[in-house]
Amino acid sequence: MARSHEPLKGGYDVDENAVRFSNYFHVLRELVHLSCGWLPLEPRLETKYLLGDHLHDDARAVTKIKRRLYELRTPSDYPGAPCDDLAALLDRASSAATSGEYIAIAYGELKPALITAVRIHLDQLDPMLDEPSLRQLTQLLHRQERHVAELPAPSAPQPFDDLGALPIRLREVRELTVMPPLDQPARDGYVEVTEDGDPYLTDELYVNGDENHVPTDPEEQKHFFHGLMDAELCAAELMARNSHEHPEMPWDFHVDMARQCWDEIRHAEVHDALMATELDCHWGDYPIGFGYFKSVYAYDLLGRLVLFNGTSEQKAMWRHSHRRKVLVEIGQAKVARVFDYLLADEVPHVHNGKRWGTYLLGGDEAAYREKLRELRAGLDPTGQPVAN
Ligand SMILES: [Fe+2]
Ligand SMILES: [Fe+2]
Repeated sequence: MARSHEPLKGGYDVDENAVRFSNYFHVLRELVHLSCGWLPLEPRLETKYLLGDHLHDDARAVTKIKRRLYELRTPSDYPGAPCDDLAALLDRASSAATSGEYIAIAYGELKPALITAVRIHLDQLDPMLDEPSLRQLTQLLHRQERHVAELPAPSAPQPFDDLGALPIRLREVRELTVMPPLDQPARDGYVEVTEDGDPYLTDELYVNGDENHVPTDPEEQKHFFHGLMDAELCAAELMARNSHEHPEMPWDFHVDMARQCWDEIRHAEVHDALMATELDCHWGDYPIGFGYFKSVYAYDLLGRLVLFNGTSEQKAMWRHSHRRKVLVEIGQAKVARVFDYLLADEVPHVHNGKRWGTYLLGGDEAAYREKLRELRAGLDPTGQPVAN
């Protein structure tokens, strides 16, 4: 039986194709970098949630684009610098004075320009000759369309007719700008921030071993999950800043931080929903404090990875498992299930500490263990650094 064939379309040549992917690379890499910088400073909870979700999509997209560029014979790991016009737009995004201003450029100009270019690309490419690009760009387009639908920005004039066709400066490098260090994360105005946080939350909730107390009565669960929700947000904010403040780290580090940032954001959303639907309380009902965040943020990257991922999250695994067991025994299956998933997600988070802490110590695992011992010696029984 004769097979029917569609005529080949031809589409872009390989070099034009690589230039297009190089421009997408620059836009998405900068979006990940800047969204990580702004996420802690964005006060609106819903917007913070969306930034954490989208920056993880964008980080994975950069990984796939790097791979496609390699396949398209781009000789180095870095595809050359963007042209002046794109660099000027990226500079404008980097010099935003507020998270709102950044989001207006990211979601009102950069992402729409990317969407337009990817649509042109999909329209022009040869679906047989260039099927790998077809598959990758279809996924990228759907995700970017979801991002701008979820976080709409005021409409702005489109910066380029076709961002993909902009020239690339081979052998030149665009450096990323790092924002000044944080004072503390931002929260909605209705959330009260105090020096000591919620006085209801006692040390016994956060110690490991026999003296650990699992909150089981309704009133203490309200306070406990409220505090836990803030701890998740702080964790997302710390990971986002780890990525933003260290553009010199390998790309895989940024993907790991983006994933953990999204996980912690999802955890916050779980507690948010659990409070509203099971516990009859809401985000903002109790005060929160940034003491723990500040004590860890004050360290360098190695110290943060050792103290937060390698210690705090590692110790939290035992408590999540213990909490789950106690809650199952008293018949609170739904609340127990939350800890089941928190525990599962904590495993790669602890591994992030070991993986990148060891990397920073030249690949020396024994040096990482020694650093763990050294920094753990300066913690109180709840895991809080006592002096810094
Ligand atoms: Fe978490
Ligand atoms: Fe975690």
